[in-house]
Amino acid sequence: MADKKTFYITTPIYYPSGNMTIGHTYTTVAADTMTRFKKMQGYDTYFLTGTDEHGQKIEKKAAEAGVSPIQYVDKIVDETKQLWKLMNIEYDDFIRTSEERHTKIVQKIFRQFYEQGDIYKAEYEGMYCTPCESFWTPTQLVEKDGEKVCPDCGRPCQPMKEESYFFRMSKYQDWMIDYIETHPDFIQPAKRANEMLNNFLKPGLQDLCVSRTSVKWGIPVDFDEKHTVYVWIDALSNYITALGYGTDHDELFKKYWPADVHLVGKEIVRFHTIYWPIMLHALGLPLPKQVFGHGWLLFGADRMSKSKGNVVYPQPIVARYGVDSLRYYLMREMPFGADGNYTNESFLTRMNADLANDLGNLVSRTVAMIEKYFDGVTPAWTGAVDEALDNPIKEHCAALPGLVSEQMDKLQFSQALVEIWKVIGECNKYIDLTQPWVLGKDPEKKDRLANVLLTLAECVRFVAVLIQPFMPSTPARIFEQLGVQDEALKAWDSLASFGALPQGLKVHKGEALFPRIDVTKELEALSGKEEKKEEKNAPEKKEEKKPEKKEKEKKKVEIPEGCIGFDDFEKIKLRVVRVISCERVEKSEKLLKFRLSLGDEERTVLSGIAKFHDPEDLVGKKLILLANLAPRKIMGIESQGMLLSAVKVNEDGSETLRLLTADPIMPDGAEIG
Ligand code: MSP
Repeated sequence: MADKKTFYITTPIYYPSGNMTIGHTYTTVAADTMTRFKKMQGYDTYFLTGTDEHGQKIEKKAAEAGVSPIQYVDKIVDETKQLWKLMNIEYDDFIRTSEERHTKIVQKIFRQFYEQGDIYKAEYEGMYCTPCESFWTPTQLVEKDGEKVCPDCGRPCQPMKEESYFFRMSKYQDWMIDYIETHPDFIQPAKRANEMLNNFLKPGLQDLCVSRTSVKWGIPVDFDEKHTVYVWIDALSNYITALGYGTDHDELFKKYWPADVHLVGKEIVRFHTIYWPIMLHALGLPLPKQVFGHGWLLFGADRMSKSKGNVVYPQPIVARYGVDSLRYYLMREMPFGADGNYTNESFLTRMNADLANDLGNLVSRTVAMIEKYFDGVTPAWTGAVDEALDNPIKEHCAALPGLVSEQMDKLQFSQALVEIWKVIGECNKYIDLTQPWVLGKDPEKKDRLANVLLTLAECVRFVAVLIQPFMPSTPARIFEQLGVQDEALKAWDSLASFGALPQGLKVHKGEALFPRIDVTKELEALSGKEEKKEEKNAPEKKEEKKPEKKEKEKKKVEIPEGCIGFDDFEKIKLRVVRVISCERVEKSEKLLKFRLSLGDEERTVLSGIAKFHDPEDLVGKKLILLANLAPRKIMGIESQGMLLSAVKVNEDGSETLRLLTADPIMPDGAEIG
């Protein structure tokens, strides 16, 4: 028998600097869902996650907590593993970079780079962002509130000067450009490949500092022990050290490498699509087939972060509504690749609409009608078919596995769910059109009724099989209600054709799959709970909060999660502006420079939208300006506000953007509110 096709998927290994949030959970649930899907399709899967434990950031956190780095991370690693268990995450391995199986091989890899001339010793002088563990040149930093900050996370950087080893990244620059250009699937969504090419590779790739003398909590360079390996070189290697690369037990490596996909948040695509491939190439190894940079789960307008105090943890949500609801929401709410907002309200609304109403009602109506009209036992299929009504739904349902698989191959989890929910919607309509309760009154229509209810039950079975990777517990409850015990009827292969649901299954109407929720009441309960959980999980947050911020938060207690108060809204000054002139900014592919009229004043504003609008089309247009945004210098030009736009994510993950316009009768500078 031929060997099964393999599928190797990874998440980033997370920093155990604090407890994992709903953001880390997002990537991990995506990887788990994909693994389960591929496994269901018959692949031999391998799913790796873990923790990135070395570096300055953890060293600092441990010192603040007054414990050793390993004591500090041990506790968080335990809690992380518990969280993944709670979330029903079935990984094959959890690698910790403090483990010997990892550290030994990283030393070996580092030595090989040195011996083959990829690494040389020199002195580093530049800036360092500890939260991102990133090096920056002063010109790469951006200005915020008069301070130079990290272009990735917006936090202050520190100057750094020390003896370091450097990796000759520049030597591989042309090879890397060529690789990305000739392998369009390597970086997904495709727009991220352009960002890498235009922002980092084409302007000239700099050699990377790959060791630190001032960081003790790291893997020692074994031929020069005052140095420790730079945490990103250490971390990226996990994807192969976990498989036994470089040891005598490298069976997993031989079987699963190259990875099919590394799932990562968009902020670390750079490390995975430039440094990591170059490291692998230098080792003579094939590159991962794909790196997918997904978007951020935002909270309000911000990326969640402990220092901003806007973190959401999954545990209270799961405790109240179950794992499957949260897993469903995370995979359904935003297209994989785009940013999206987490709000308790959108979560609860989806629970009601998609889970309680659409799915829950379909299952309970179907089972209840089989109980009522056929004594709770599935009848045989009969010839009583109404082709106009039955064929479309049967054909659609039969095509569903293909439609879902097509979306999953593109990692479009939300679209895959949309496809499944289209069939659920069609079933609910089919009930209204066929009116089984009318058929049930006429004994002569019994055969027709049997076919209608079987069609519904078979659709429900298809849906239950297909949602298994997304919601690992709910399908078992649906199968139980449908009386499906045969494992073969729960498997992917059983979806090869429509109509496998047999006669004689004993259905049981159980509890509602998802109870309907009183959104207002739940919002109150959830925000109260979340505050408590946050305090418990993040004691360090309290110290970081400034007193006046605490005061403000006290006043905001009544404001539901995800909303802002009127006071906050009043701070935002939006104005209608007229475009006097608009031109491209020299040496920038992204920026347009606007001169805008606000009636009594003119402003210059830069906007990174050159890809989406021709400057000449915009002259004379009335646009909307966020007028009290602090001015910011970009490429030497001061931008005095921000033009509002809307973004649409296309099916291929690319984006279409349009500036928002105002009614032309509005005078220049008109206030919006
Ligand atoms: N340790 C590095 C990764 C090394 S991989 C070789 C790191 N760790 S991290 O703890 O900061 O985790 C970042 C990752 O967590 C993101 O890339 C993403 O996968 C996930 N996310 C954390 N917060 C997130 C959101 N708010 N939204 C979406 N994903 C988020 O970077």
